[in-house]
Amino acid sequence: MHSKHTYKSGCSFSFSVNFASRSIYSLMKYNFDEAPCRENTNCLKWDKRKEVFGRADVIPMWIADMDFSTPPFIIDALRQRLNHGILGYSYRPDSYFTALINWISELHGWNVRQEWIEFSPGVVPALNLCTIAYTSPGDEIIIQPPVYPPFYGAVTDHGRRLVFNPLLETEKGYSIDFDGLRKVITPKTKMLILSNPHNPVGRVWTQDELSELAEICHGKAIVILSDEIHSDLLLPGVKHVPLASVSEKAAAVTVTCMAPSKTFNLAGLSTSSIIISDPGLMEKYRKTLTGLHMHLGNIFGNIASEAAYTHGREWLEQLMLYVEGNVDLVMDFCRNRLPSIKPVRPEATYMIWLDCRAMGMNGQELNRFFVESAGVGLNEGSRFGPGGEGFMRMNLACPRDTVLRALEQTETAIKKEG
Ligand SMILES: Cc1ncc(COP(=O)(O)O)c(C=O)c1O
Repeated sequence: MHSKHTYKSGCSFSFSVNFASRSIYSLMKYNFDEAPCRENTNCLKWDKRKEVFGRADVIPMWIADMDFSTPPFIIDALRQRLNHGILGYSYRPDSYFTALINWISELHGWNVRQEWIEFSPGVVPALNLCTIAYTSPGDEIIIQPPVYPPFYGAVTDHGRRLVFNPLLETEKGYSIDFDGLRKVITPKTKMLILSNPHNPVGRVWTQDELSELAEICHGKAIVILSDEIHSDLLLPGVKHVPLASVSEKAAAVTVTCMAPSKTFNLAGLSTSSIIISDPGLMEKYRKTLTGLHMHLGNIFGNIASEAAYTHGREWLEQLMLYVEGNVDLVMDFCRNRLPSIKPVRPEATYMIWLDCRAMGMNGQELNRFFVESAGVGLNEGSRFGPGGEGFMRMNLACPRDTVLRALEQTETAIKKEG
């Protein structure tokens, strides 16, 4: 058994916003202040720190993986299946699809049919499968940086040409550059990969933005891979709009990727859903997937997903209330005590995109500062491509004490480096 531990900063530091929300937490059924120790569990986030950061003792706030326990109703379902004692080939039963369809309808107001749903062993594998299914070597594929690094490889690893339409950074936050998009499209453009909600900037694209995107891409017969893996992780009050739900034109060109992996901390089970309402696009995807014999999935991924989508609503609401508290902490701490770091408030995901440009360091220097001086392991912004230089991405899916400790260590390091 692994011992339980929480980080106690021993600090009396507090914010009014946390006092206000503390009463909410006392009503919560799930305790996100506690997280089991993950060291020595072959955990990428904790046990690979030496390889990734050169130090095994940084506070790990990098890869999109939560330190909170996978919810008990999922663990119970897995345990029950394991008790049967036979782990042969299995398939996804109707109850699996019903759970997923109800989840998407209730959370996002999108009515999905069972025949639109296919499997993938992950969203990144699906991006690669779609590149193979819908494009040919030499074709152009657009991405909108700064964006999740595996989008790059999903294009270039298959001999397709990567084309950038960088996000616009405005006073009001990040937005899609529609004029830029129209300009970069050529007859060779066959696909666009959208991050919705956007990792790392945390934007949830609006109905209007998505309609305009679909209109442009439909007009040029461009397939849109809408990576909606973070769509359940909405900060309170925010609504996600699935791209395929905005219009018939959108549905005709969209391949949607969804998964319970980020939402419920199930990434190790390699299970996601690819939703395609256009029969022609579905046929090509299915042919590529089954051609590689990757369609069966794994028994535990199926069981865990069904349990998550059936019982997960309350847990998820409480998780996101807690994440919001962590976001508030970072926003307030930076405003009051780290003025050279300007966090971009996310609408979704449990990541926060930190604008560190006022620190006057390049990416390598920022990485060195956070690892060696502050003892905090973050993702360096330039890894997300153009527009990422001078930023760092911080993972807030951890107990509040951990976030506070990371911020305090950063403050001490800034003072020390003067
Ligand atoms: C935008 C985005 N897509 C996909 C993934 C990973 O998907 P998977 O583990 O299902 O391949 C991540 C993980 O961080 C992500 O942020």
